[in-house]
Amino acid sequence: MSVGIPEIDEDHKRFIVLINDLNRSIADRKSPDEIVRRMEDIINDTARHFDQEERFFFEWQYPNISGHAAIHASVLKTLNAMKEQFMPYGHDSGWVDAGIKIKKILIDHILKEDMKYADYYHNHRGSVTNHKRDVNQ
Ligand SMILES: [Fe+2]
Ligand SMILES: [Fe+2]
Repeated sequence: MSVGIPEIDEDHKRFIVLINDLNRSIADRKSPDEIVRRMEDIINDTARHFDQEERFFFEWQYPNISGHAAIHASVLKTLNAMKEQFMPYGHDSGWVDAGIKIKKILIDHILKEDMKYADYYHNHRGSVTNHKRDVNQ
């Protein structure tokens, strides 16, 4: 699942860990407070990661910044809506499905969408590097 860009791969690995922690808390029937807190950790981490990716896109002059950013916004909207499902007042059988769905949404994003910029980055890295050098002169 690597995009071959170390800073981004680190982020992806970290939020997979957070998602696995959430799913374990759900399976272990931890307190609703803990589950909501883990969900908030995922949302905050994902938002920070998406911002970082978008900053890289500008640096790389990636042609589909707005398209990818719109997908980021939509993923965050979905995650926030799902967090509401974890808000209520006790355990719910729907939580297990929600935890699995969150994992799928984020992994699918990496595999389908992030891989597109990974291809661009690896095909254009020479010109990206030159651009950075020009900017810094
Ligand atoms: Fe990503
Ligand atoms: Fe992304």
